[in-house]
Amino acid sequence: MLSAVSLWLTEIGYRVSVIGRSKQRHHHLVKKAADPTLINNLSLDYNNHSLLEDKVRKAIQQNGPISLVISWIPSKQSLDIVNKLVSEYIDDWKLYQVKGSRRYFNDDILNVPSNCTHSSIYLGFIIEGNQSRWLTNNEIAEGVIKSIQDEKAESIIGRLHPYEKRPNY
Ligand SMILES: NC(=O)c1ccc[n+]([C@@H]2O[C@H](COP(=O)([O-])OP(=O)(O)OC[C@H]3O[C@@H](n4cnc5c(N)ncnc54)[C@H](OP(=O)(O)O)[C@@H]3O)[C@@H](O)[C@H]2O)c1
Repeated sequence: MLSAVSLWLTEIGYRVSVIGRSKQRHHHLVKKAADPTLINNLSLDYNNHSLLEDKVRKAIQQNGPISLVISWIPSKQSLDIVNKLVSEYIDDWKLYQVKGSRRYFNDDILNVPSNCTHSSIYLGFIIEGNQSRWLTNNEIAEGVIKSIQDEKAESIIGRLHPYEKRPNY
């Protein structure tokens, strides 16, 4: 759901390292990039903490410090590893943490390093007439791009209220 965000980042001049398990999905993403050399695939399961640390450190050593992280990692432990590593190599950086709607009401506290500017992006839902639905991948990607452009500390894509109107409730 964040592949369009990765592609947009390459278009505005970023080199992007993408974490995911499926080599096929990585391949699909690289094929869509105008400059495939700007996408660096980190094929791994982020629950494998030693591999996560190893591959992210290698990516930094090969491509330079990471100035922007867009995370859809629900695991706090895995995100802590990424945050600590990124902080070691750069003075200031930004973390955009994309979260499901439930986390707006009940979330773990993430202790971000002092050199990190942290933003939360919550995925809500859409009400259409007397029905509601979850967001499409396009809506999610567009909302994430807008949040990055606006540099907002907190944003909601779609809506979270009234919460009891969410789909399948
Ligand atoms: N509010 C809304 O409208 C809305 C809309 C969409 C989704 N969501 C929320 O998002 C949740 C999951 O969405 P999804 O199914 O699209 O996402 P997902 O299955 O969590 O996958 C998202 C991305 O993360 C990667 N990934 C997942 N687990 C990984 C792991 N252990 N290690 C490395 N990479 C991993 C996936 O690639 P690989 O599979 O290749 O690893 C994929 O690129 C839903 O349950 C829902 O709560 C909300």
